[in-house]
Amino acid sequence: MSAYDANSFEVFLVGLPGLESVLRREAMTLGFPDPQMVPGGVTFTGGWPQVWQANLLSRCASRVLVRIASFRAPHLATLDKRVRKLPWAQFLRPGVPVRIEASSKRSAIYHTGAIRERVGNAITSTLGVQPDDSADLCLRVRFDDDLCTLSIDTSGNPLHKRGFKQAVNRAPLRETMAAQLLHACGYRGSEAVLDPMCGSGTFVIEAAEIAAGLAPGRSRGFCFEVLPGFDPDAFATVKADLPAANLDIGQNFFGSDRDTGAIDMSRANAKRAGVQHLASFVERSISTISRPEAVDPGLVIVNPPYGDRIGDPNALTGLYASFGRVMRERFSGWRVGMVTDKPALAHATALPFKGPSAPIPHGGLKVRLYQTTALE
Ligand SMILES: C[S@@+](CC[C@H](N)C(=O)[O-])C[C@H]1O[C@@H](n2cnc3c(N)ncnc32)[C@H](O)[C@@H]1O
Repeated sequence: MSAYDANSFEVFLVGLPGLESVLRREAMTLGFPDPQMVPGGVTFTGGWPQVWQANLLSRCASRVLVRIASFRAPHLATLDKRVRKLPWAQFLRPGVPVRIEASSKRSAIYHTGAIRERVGNAITSTLGVQPDDSADLCLRVRFDDDLCTLSIDTSGNPLHKRGFKQAVNRAPLRETMAAQLLHACGYRGSEAVLDPMCGSGTFVIEAAEIAAGLAPGRSRGFCFEVLPGFDPDAFATVKADLPAANLDIGQNFFGSDRDTGAIDMSRANAKRAGVQHLASFVERSISTISRPEAVDPGLVIVNPPYGDRIGDPNALTGLYASFGRVMRERFSGWRVGMVTDKPALAHATALPFKGPSAPIPHGGLKVRLYQTTALE
């Protein structure tokens, strides 16, 4: 069994399958040591200050897990013995409720209820903490090929919940997915971004926040604040040492949508995020948009309706064709990034897309990112 060392343990940044390389690039930019890609995320070895930083600063990770133990357990008796030996007081506080989630794949112990019960009993007998299915704090127990891994979810609410997007249209993107797609399109915060079917404004607001250097977790709380390893003074220092945001940048961010309600939501969300002066939102159908003249060509990024979720499948081909025509005729010099679940819809745009990305799970569908270089 790998022993837990409070100053150096495995940190797992949970990401989206298909976009692990983007998450790894972000982890390197944030200065985490030697981040390694694994299916569904990135791991590195670090301590609590890095866990706090990852929660505060990662735009791409959906959660930050701390691995507290990993051992082989082919029988329930082995699991029982191992979990009773863990130094639970280092991981959990008496009086702070914890939820236990279990999963099992390719393992002799397949009954997740029995796994939760054994781990719960070990925690109760050593700390007096009763598992509570409604607790914010979550301990994850994963069995894969008889290897049991226990992790504490230090984020609590998933990290796409930045605390600013209260208003959502149909089929909104998660902020973490929007950030990863912006990164995948080469956006690094220094160019204009336009979304002509912006819904609740996710791409536009995320891009404006990146440009302004705002910490995505600046206004929310995290579950690590209730753990024994938490030092509020050291965390306050980490926060105080963050690079200062620069809100004095140009209005480089543009959203439009044909739906008035979507535009109202986008404006309200941008205001809550404090970037309303950087972003403009207008009610406009795709066929009537024009390129913003005051800025250099940048990135058009869009998540149009898909047939399986919203929109009439027959009308969609026309919508994608219209989008492609507007891009080709009015947006020379701009790059296009588009997310959709159907190659035929991407084809309908007649845009010169490079090969699509790997499939990315999104709301029960598999979508892909299609990208162009700067249009002629
Ligand atoms: C999948 S949603 C976009 C969600 C958005 N990315 C978000 O995070 O909230 C697609 C959007 O396309 C808009 N839309 C559909 N047809 C349009 C058209 N012809 N012109 C402009 N917007 C359109 C819809 O109103 C909807 O808000």
